[in-house]
Amino acid sequence: MIGIFDSGLGGLTVTRAIRNRLPTADLIYLADSAYCPYGPRPAAEVRSRALACGRWLVEQGAQIVVVACNTATAAAIELLRSELPVAVVGMEPGVKPAVAASRRGKVAVMATSGTLASDRFRALVNAYAADVEVYTLACPDLVTQVENGALDDDQTRALIADYLATIPDADVIVLGCTHFPPLTPLISACAGPKVTIIDTGPAVAAQTARVAERIGLPNGSGTLRCYTTGDPQQIAPALANVWGEALPLTRVNIP
Ligand code: DGL
Repeated sequence: MIGIFDSGLGGLTVTRAIRNRLPTADLIYLADSAYCPYGPRPAAEVRSRALACGRWLVEQGAQIVVVACNTATAAAIELLRSELPVAVVGMEPGVKPAVAASRRGKVAVMATSGTLASDRFRALVNAYAADVEVYTLACPDLVTQVENGALDDDQTRALIADYLATIPDADVIVLGCTHFPPLTPLISACAGPKVTIIDTGPAVAAQTARVAERIGLPNGSGTLRCYTTGDPQQIAPALANVWGEALPLTRVNIP
C-alpha cells in the first residue's frame, strides 16, 4: 500500500498522477486539514505534523510514504527518511525542468512562503537556476481557494490575475505547491498561451513507481481510502471538486 499525505486537498493532484501511473496500487490518502495551511507555519511545526502524518500512514500499513506537499518536503524530508521504517518519496518545485523549458530565462515559482523560505529551495535555485531570473510568488490565498473548492470562480480568477501581474515577462510558471494544478486552466488563461506551466505531480508518480518496483510492492486492487484530520462533512464538497467526483472521507485524530 502507498500512503500519501498533504496539509489538505492539494496532494490529491499527486494522488491522481500516482493512480494513473500505478492503477492497481492500493492508496491511502491523508489530508491534515486540521493543520492546513502548512505554508505560513514555522518549519518546526510542519516537521512535527509531517512526522505524525507519516507515522500514521505507516501504522495503517503504508510501505511507501509519498509527501505530496512541497512545504512538508522542504521542512521535513530528511527527518521522515531517518524516522520512518519505509521508503519516503518527496517533491520539490520543478525549477530544473522550468529552466530547461524557458526561452527568455525568466521563471516564476508559485509556492508557499514556507517552501520559498526554505534552505532546500535556495539550494535548488543555486543548483539549477543560477543563470536565469527566478521570480518567487507566495500564494497563500490560492491554497485557501482550493481548500474551499473554488477552482473556477471570479475571486480565484482575480487573485491569479493579481499574482501574475507582478511577473508579466515570465515565460515559465512552476506550480510549486500541490494545491495549484487544479487551477491550471485559470492560470494558463491569465498567463497566455506562450507561457509554459510546470507541474511535478507526474514526476513524483514516476519516482513512486520506481520505488515501488525497487521494494517489490505487490499489486493491489486499485483502492483509494481518504482520511482527514478535519471535518469530513465540511471538506467533502471541495474534495469532490478537486478529485472530480465524490470520495468517502473518514475523520482521524492525529495529535
Ligand atoms: N500543498 C502544499 C504544498 O505543496 C501546502 C499548502 C499549504 O498547506 O500551505 O506546498
